[in-house]
Amino acid sequence: MNSKRRDFMSLFSAEDELILGLAPMAGTSTPPFRGLVSQLSATFTISELVSARGIVYNPHMQKMSRYLLPDPREGLYAIQLFGHDPADFSAAIKILLEHPVYGQADWIDINMGCPVKKVCGTGAGAALMLKPDLACAIAAAAVAAAAEFNKMVTVKMRSGWDAGKINAPALARRLQGEGVAGITVHARSREQFYGGQADWRVFTAVRQECSLPLCGNGDIKSAEDIRRLQEMVKLDGYQIGRAAMGNPFIFEQIREAMKSGSQPPEINSERWLQAIINHLDGMIELIGEAAGCREMRSQFAHYVRSVRDAAGFRDRLMQIEDRQSAIEILLEVAERRG
Ligand SMILES: Cc1cc2nc3c(=O)[nH]c(=O)nc-3n(C[C@H](O)[C@H](O)[C@H](O)COP(=O)(O)O)c2cc1C
Repeated sequence: MNSKRRDFMSLFSAEDELILGLAPMAGTSTPPFRGLVSQLSATFTISELVSARGIVYNPHMQKMSRYLLPDPREGLYAIQLFGHDPADFSAAIKILLEHPVYGQADWIDINMGCPVKKVCGTGAGAALMLKPDLACAIAAAAVAAAAEFNKMVTVKMRSGWDAGKINAPALARRLQGEGVAGITVHARSREQFYGGQADWRVFTAVRQECSLPLCGNGDIKSAEDIRRLQEMVKLDGYQIGRAAMGNPFIFEQIREAMKSGSQPPEINSERWLQAIINHLDGMIELIGEAAGCREMRSQFAHYVRSVRDAAGFRDRLMQIEDRQSAIEILLEVAERRG
């Protein structure tokens, strides 16, 4: 085993046979949600993407705490940065890791997968896959800055820019040479955004080129998916994104189903309600009642999506301004779930 691989894998407990992380998701991977999924057996979490330059320009990070704060329930937790300038990464990582709170992050993840124009237009996110030299310079700067604090750096990338440029295997290999400690691949091209089917065959190709710990991501929703993946390729971990929205229980459901071989039972309404209230209260504690309730509206929509008459409940929850009214509606939903 190469030493980078050993060092990174040593962060994980040897007993955790199945490494299941929460994928970073802007608007969802908030501290309260990260804490909740950790309590419900996610192995690790990653903050949503934060601008490296934004940190450099605002080193006190007042407005960023809502994205970056660790939650006491989290086990392993990484901060994800995006940007297009190696100097920004050097400076931002120093600021973060010197900080008494953000410095608790277990590692730093670099975003090379964000498809949105606002990010790619500056040369950051998935656009870095088009510029492997710059991607490597960023990785090298980040690795050197984090090493000062004894911390490691991982990269999350797409399979490539479009179907004609599937270069995750080649880029992963080069990033390994820059001292990156682990790679996550979202098995879609930038061109696919979040649509179409993830093409997991890219994991095998990356595995052939790069011996770093490899985390698979894209359309992983069940124990069945993980079993299918295990037959295709040996991955070190899995990141679950959209399937965790409104279902923080997915990590324990997958673990149970992997052990028992059968479908796990439905989450009962009491636990379901407790989890949402815990999420809501965490947001209220973080940003206040009015803003917390507003931010939770889109999360509520995910929580109620599989309930009968979801649309009616969703419409009402979309108007929520205060905790009490949210809880009254959620109690009705819980009753409907039975
Ligand atoms: C609303 C939303 C926000 C996202 N934000 C981020 C982000 O901040 N950083 C990142 O690396 N990926 C982000 N992603 C991508 C996810 O981490 C993940 O790669 C993608 O959703 C595919 O996984 P899934 O099929 O399990 O959802 C986001 C995805 C969604 C749907």
